[in-house]
Amino acid sequence: MLVTLSLLGLLLLSSASGAAHEKRQYERRRPIVLEKSGGFVAGGRTINSPIFPNWTLSCDHGYMEYFIPWRPRKTSIVMWHSSSTQVWQNRWDGGEGYKDMFLRRGYPVYLWDGPRVGRANWACEPYRYTPFYQDQGNFVAWNFGPSYPNFWPGVQFPTEDKEAWQQATSSRYVEFDSNASVHLETQAAAVAADSGKLGDSIVYLTNSASGLRAQMTVVKSNTTNIKAIVAYESYGCVFPDNFNITAGEPFGPMIVPLEDFKKLAKLEAIQFVWGDHRDESFPFLKQTRLAAKLINLYGGNAEVFFLSKDGGLSGNTHSAFADMNNDEVADLLDEFLEDNGLDAYKDEDEDEDEDETDESVKNKGRG
Ligand SMILES: *[C@@H]1O[C@H](CO)[C@@H](O)[C@H](O)[C@H]1NC(C)=O
Ligand SMILES: *[C@@H]1O[C@H](CO)[C@@H](O)[C@H](O)[C@H]1NC(C)=O
Ligand SMILES: *[C@@H]1O[C@H](CO)[C@@H](O)[C@H](O)[C@H]1NC(C)=O
Ligand SMILES: *[C@@H]1O[C@H](CO)[C@@H](O)[C@H](O)[C@H]1NC(C)=O
Repeated sequence: MLVTLSLLGLLLLSSASGAAHEKRQYERRRPIVLEKSGGFVAGGRTINSPIFPNWTLSCDHGYMEYFIPWRPRKTSIVMWHSSSTQVWQNRWDGGEGYKDMFLRRGYPVYLWDGPRVGRANWACEPYRYTPFYQDQGNFVAWNFGPSYPNFWPGVQFPTEDKEAWQQATSSRYVEFDSNASVHLETQAAAVAADSGKLGDSIVYLTNSASGLRAQMTVVKSNTTNIKAIVAYESYGCVFPDNFNITAGEPFGPMIVPLEDFKKLAKLEAIQFVWGDHRDESFPFLKQTRLAAKLINLYGGNAEVFFLSKDGGLSGNTHSAFADMNNDEVADLLDEFLEDNGLDAYKDEDEDEDEDETDESVKNKGRG
């Protein structure tokens, strides 16, 4: 009898998890249906030629590419990596990246290149590119392993795939790490955020140095369009000028007037996400702990979130959203967006039950 009961229990359990698994597989294959896609520039200035004053150059703007689902949610996701949009486009092995994952989920997705970076490289000032030998440094900085070419055991990278490593280290562009550049980039980003072209509910997803940039963008923005930041391994944070901390360059701390800092406390939420193999003594981790504490002191909602001990995942790198388990990392982001009320659809009343069936999707789509 006991045997039969536990067998029955097992069967019930496995069919329930089987159904959940099927639902998930189905959702992952949900087609991407776009209403439109395109791009635009934001910010920047126009300068006159010193020789022919009537000749001008429009420069130092940022470039935003967008993808709008046919049935969009209200919240726009701006994916910001300070030196390549590629990391958002594919997983390390070429599999699906965050861009497609969140389009399938119905979020408008924006890919941002700040002034001088990527597709916004028309600078108002001359700059020089000097090759520096960075590949091996990337391996360590991105936390693939303790030293090149030694991967961490269990790392969420296709360690046997030489092409994957080549793709990862090649698909970058010059990052311009200085705090003058942070100001230049965030001024243009704030113009974009305030323009209304990204809607009035914006979440920044950032990685590394763009975490600092997104915080500074909030400081510079004059609207409440920006609602949240999810910063994967943020290098650098913004601090208020009443706090005793020494400014650093190029990865913070950056110091701003207290009144401007308080804008960070007005966001729905800020999550500083960390992957594996990060000790509490890691300076950038310490900055995020301190920044989160101060944001919360002023009434904000910031947290430091470890993908391992808080999220139950393992082996994540500096760029978890491109890791081999990025679908599980994305599930955690879903939870964050739901928990903070950022997952509603545009065509849906706030009060309406958001638990939709296929039928309700169709009806709402038609309505
Ligand atoms: C150039 O600028 C000057 C002074 O602003 C103006 O008088 C002139 O008409 C301009 N020339 C052209 C070709 O636009
Ligand atoms: C916000 O307003 C201030 C004061 O008017 C202005 O200097 C700044 O450029 C504005 N920021 C943006 C992003 O437009
Ligand atoms: C600020 O911090 C520095 C270094 O930790 C310390 O030496 C200094 O006394 C502090 N100043 C104040 C006003 O607390
Ligand atoms: C920019 O960096 C310098 C140190 O190089 C620092 O003195 C200055 O305060 C920084 N600016 C901001 C806004 O933090």
